[in-house]
Amino acid sequence: MTHDQPVGVGILGAGNIAGPYISDLATYPNVELRGIFDLDSAKAADLASKHGLTKYETLDQLLADPEVEIVANLSAHHAHFELTKKCLEAGKHVHSEKPLSLSAEQAWQLVKIAESKGLRLGCSPFTWLGNASRALSGVVKSGKIGKPRLIYAEVNWGFIEAWHPSPAAFHKVGALWDVGVYPLTFATSMFGPARSVESIARTLKPERIALDGTAFTLDRPEWMVSMIDFADGVTLRLTTNFYVDKSKQRATFEVHGDDGTVRADDWLNFDSEVQFASRKGEWETVEFEKGGHYIRWGLAIADMATGLRDDRPPLAGGAQAAHIVDILEACEKSVRESRLVEVTSQFPAPKLTGAIQ
Ligand SMILES: NC(=O)c1ccc[n+]([C@@H]2O[C@H](COP(=O)([O-])OP(=O)(O)OC[C@H]3O[C@@H](n4cnc5c(N)ncnc54)[C@H](O)[C@@H]3O)[C@@H](O)[C@H]2O)c1
Repeated sequence: MTHDQPVGVGILGAGNIAGPYISDLATYPNVELRGIFDLDSAKAADLASKHGLTKYETLDQLLADPEVEIVANLSAHHAHFELTKKCLEAGKHVHSEKPLSLSAEQAWQLVKIAESKGLRLGCSPFTWLGNASRALSGVVKSGKIGKPRLIYAEVNWGFIEAWHPSPAAFHKVGALWDVGVYPLTFATSMFGPARSVESIARTLKPERIALDGTAFTLDRPEWMVSMIDFADGVTLRLTTNFYVDKSKQRATFEVHGDDGTVRADDWLNFDSEVQFASRKGEWETVEFEKGGHYIRWGLAIADMATGLRDDRPPLAGGAQAAHIVDILEACEKSVRESRLVEVTSQFPAPKLTGAIQ
């Protein structure tokens, strides 16, 4: 492949999030969408015809396409490990939706396979690459808030079954694994690896009703609060649940330091309002370039494609995602054993320069 040749991308998984990925990926000149595969053939056929893509009949057919360099693994949570492993073993670079795997041992296995084969492994969330998040981390780095010591992150994701047609996979992993990963990845991108966690959890409303009217019962607590200590002295208080409605408790991310606070209204939104206040001062808006996007779903894959041609790792890398899975497992263990749990893994700090939105 020549340096200027667009990177071929194959889509694996044609569910709820595949459409937004495909629409956004189509806007990057360095990416060429090839085709799509899903176990549910009708879903793949629908997206293939809407977006003019090849519909692969099997995963092997997708993997045999020599033009596919990166596979976007957008399948359901429980399928991530086996599918990413298979793609890597077939010699494809992979960007996986979150979490990288449902077990840390498997997540690190994927990192090792990618490394041993000289392949790129990337993983969502990548929303910390959006301009609002980068404006916030820029304020922290500038020293304006003084020494940062505390982060408050709110992940109140409402009744997921009230909008998602297949909520079972989401309730099976829980809000921490499904959405807690966003602020966790943001925090680790700013402050490096976590060193210990203490979590508590509660079941608030176990009886739920799916969109089609079917009643079901939760088999795990849907509310959790975690205190996560980072190696460099910052502590994160993370609230995650599939209960409190998003419209009632915003998805805020606040970093508090000795001299002030910087906060984003919505850590998912690339154009979120970001504000700074000194300890005794009023809130002031932090100005940054707005891109007109809530989330650019293709951003991390386009970045991986650029890195492939420029010979650098993806910004949203697999080792950071595996470290996040370590944190998630530690939170679960902390709830089970009612104690502080240490986290020991490391990951290379992502090297960010300039705005990329
Ligand atoms: N829906 C969202 O708003 C959203 C947002 C961000 C990230 N995500 C992430 O994207 C992923 C998918 O979420 P979704 O909402 O699209 O879920 P979904 O349930 O709508 O779709 C998942 C798809 O994966 C397919 N699949 C499962 N096992 C497979 C296999 N072995 N081979 C091929 N296809 C397989 C299913 O048939 C299904 O079409 C999840 O990891 C989720 O965390 C979703």
